[in-house]
Amino acid sequence: MEQLVGVVVRDVIKGYAAGSQELRVLDGISLRCQPGEFISLLGPSGAGKTTLLRLMAGLDRPDHGEVVYIDGSSKRVDASEVRVGMVFQEPRLLPWASVAKNVSYGLQGRAKAMNRHEQERAVRDALELFGLGAFSTYLPHQISGGMKQRAALARALVGEPDLLLLDEPLGSLDIKNRLAIQEVLSQFAGTRTCIMVTHSIEEAVYLSDRIYVLSDRPALVKSEIHVPLPRPRDRVAPGFSTYARQVIRALGVTPAG
Ligand SMILES: Nc1ncnc2c1ncn2[C@@H]1O[C@H](COP(=O)(O)OP(=O)(O)OP(=O)(O)O)[C@@H](O)[C@H]1O
Ligand SMILES: [Mg+2]
Repeated sequence: MEQLVGVVVRDVIKGYAAGSQELRVLDGISLRCQPGEFISLLGPSGAGKTTLLRLMAGLDRPDHGEVVYIDGSSKRVDASEVRVGMVFQEPRLLPWASVAKNVSYGLQGRAKAMNRHEQERAVRDALELFGLGAFSTYLPHQISGGMKQRAALARALVGEPDLLLLDEPLGSLDIKNRLAIQEVLSQFAGTRTCIMVTHSIEEAVYLSDRIYVLSDRPALVKSEIHVPLPRPRDRVAPGFSTYARQVIRALGVTPAG
């Protein structure tokens, strides 16, 4: 579809079977991402962030409550009309397929409207965007962990998703690559709806319009921080640290010393 979509999570409960018991991971969580917004989710390990992203991707269903897609006038959009791009916490590349082939799988429904030449070009552009142009014929085991993660990003983006869900996508990148990919992601702000799980406060403040700080499991919204800083953002501007401090406070982390 052409227009931007957002996501509404309403009173969602989700548990997993743990022997004869249930492990309640989400217990009535509600949050919202407006069309075109860039949202970050921060919270402790094991809180339920990946579980939440999977529900927003439509990969799992809530036990209770609902996850709905909305358009710019808050009207419901059917899930079948929404192209979701997801970058999982681990890159999940197919081991027998080249980097280019792996990325081409991300074209999904978009491929139907493209001829072979256009498809190849889209894959090539995505590989270039993530600095993988020279590695298109390599197999996943022949590239580094950070390159695998970049290939997973290229695969998610080549399909031009309406909704991009990112689960700690920059975790295994070195600093230079991390900053470079943050620049790529920052260009999506306002033009693509992104929801990103990250453990980096700086990354969240640099990229997000809004940050949700989640509690320990079962994850609830502990705090919601708006980041109205102009873009492009400056990490060393005084305003930047103001928001970083708000996030630190919301996380309940007390600086040592
Ligand atoms: N498929 C599953 N079956 C059973 N339990 C699960 C399943 N997926 C997740 N869990 C449990 O749900 C809880 C939340 O997991 P989740 O992966 O959502 O956390 P997270 O916030 O993404 O953590 P991290 O920051 O470490 O990635 C954990 O206790 C985990 O063991
Ligand atoms: Mg996770």
